[in-house]
Amino acid sequence: MNAFEDLITYIESETSFASSYYDESYLDRRISARMRRTKSEDYGAYFDLLKRDEDERAELLDTLSVNVTSFFRDEKVWHALREVVQDLAAENRSVDIWSAACADGREPYSLAMLALDAGLSPRSVDILATDIDENALDRARQGVYQSTRTTDLDDQLSFLEDPHEYVAQDGDQITLAKQVKDLISFERHDLITGDPKSGFDLVLCRNVCIYLDSEYKHPILETVSESLRPGGYLVLGQTETIPPDIKARFEAADPRLRIYRLIE
Ligand SMILES: C[S@@+](CC[C@H](N)C(=O)[O-])C[C@H]1O[C@@H](n2cnc3c(N)ncnc32)[C@H](O)[C@@H]1O
Repeated sequence: MNAFEDLITYIESETSFASSYYDESYLDRRISARMRRTKSEDYGAYFDLLKRDEDERAELLDTLSVNVTSFFRDEKVWHALREVVQDLAAENRSVDIWSAACADGREPYSLAMLALDAGLSPRSVDILATDIDENALDRARQGVYQSTRTTDLDDQLSFLEDPHEYVAQDGDQITLAKQVKDLISFERHDLITGDPKSGFDLVLCRNVCIYLDSEYKHPILETVSESLRPGGYLVLGQTETIPPDIKARFEAADPRLRIYRLIE
């Protein structure tokens, strides 16, 4: 085995990062960035550093996990989703939603705020939010977010007319209100090896397949499709597509926005 492979094997066994799902060039770019940062001369030197330095293991894990997200990411989709949740609420007694690959929680919190804002009763909405990354889930459960030089939370929340109904603001920091948090349960789930769920009215699986090796796209989309009830909606990321055999099970609700509906 060469030094790069040793390093990947170590990451796979000693950290919670599932490196085998990612393609090699992606892993190499990210690891090389940490090597430059720590002035490690080669993979071997970086491997030695990683074994003795817990902080560097945490830094590497952070660099490898792509948790990029935002509240109401791709605003146009959320305008369409407002109608989807209202239609679902008119049809059903309760609306069950799954935010698959929820990262640090901003997507499921957006869903919860959207549902309340669209006039749904809190008792009629249930949101499951899952991710493979325990650290991201810990941050999600806290429901506390900070504006930074690159993240303007006011801007992200401006989709809502009055975000202060749903968040408490303290300087640059916001905390999600209890009524919003109460709609969501968080749990770890791996979309590649985990079982499908069942009976969901709406599943969001956005911006996860784009980062993974292409062979995993099919199993992930099978998992989320099987988790929908007939007539349920699937939403993908704006640059993502469904393989033709899975697409045949759906009718296009709004294909431009990557919203599909499972044929009844
Ligand atoms: C870029 S974020 C997308 C967050 C959100 N869905 C959005 O669109 O803003 C990708 C997330 O996918 C998660 N992820 C990667 N592989 C996964 C897998 N096999 N199962 C579940 N989640 C996974 C990562 O941990 C990360 O939080």
